[in-house]
Amino acid sequence: MIIAIDGPAASGKSVTAKKVADKLDFLHLNTGLMYRAVTLHFINSGVNINNETDILSGLKKMSILFDSMDSNKILLNGQDVSKIIRNKLIDSKVSEVSAIRSVREKLVVQQREIAKNNDIVIEGRDIGSYVFPNADFKFFLTADINVRAKRRYEQKKIKDVSLNNVLFDLKQRDKYDKNRKYSPLVISDDAIVIDTSDLNIEEQVNKIVKIINKER
Ligand code: CDP
Repeated sequence: MIIAIDGPAASGKSVTAKKVADKLDFLHLNTGLMYRAVTLHFINSGVNINNETDILSGLKKMSILFDSMDSNKILLNGQDVSKIIRNKLIDSKVSEVSAIRSVREKLVVQQREIAKNNDIVIEGRDIGSYVFPNADFKFFLTADINVRAKRRYEQKKIKDVSLNNVLFDLKQRDKYDKNRKYSPLVISDDAIVIDTSDLNIEEQVNKIVKIINKER
């Protein structure tokens, strides 16, 4: 069974998806980590993202794997990069890299492979709309932009980053993710939309699990 959870940055997707997966005893896949890892790989290997030949050769030299014991642990070329891919340089570049068609094609193949024959909760931007249009359940989490900025600010608590910086970054990424040509962030017609502005994590997890258990 495939459960897709999509939504913009800081809508509560990641923690919700992990908890829903744990409650149902399903696998969990955070596709955002994959786009972040590619971004780090391109920075580390000096890939010019305006040059397709450079991009393709960069992608060939890249391996992305998840730790089988911890779905939030991602290995780029054998190295655990789970922490570093959350830094602000990656935050500011990831949407640009995610808009590249060949990057998306490569990662989507891997995402479909991971999900094959599994019960899994997959989170991202285009899971219900593009990667798994036939997913058994599709949820789309939204929240007010100011609520999202505050959440991300509280979560990061970095010395030199203000609430305004966080708000600016989220708006930029929303704009990029919604307007890109290849599989943009859209709400599928058949998705169940959950506004999490006034919900805590426990409430949104329970809401989703209840819907799934009622219908499966
Ligand atoms: O954790 P946060 O909500 O900040 O974002 P993320 O899920 O880690 O995703 C980081 C970025 O990867 C997004 O802003 C998108 O640009 C991109 N992404 C994507 O294009 N497609 C996905 N399925 C997942 C992430």
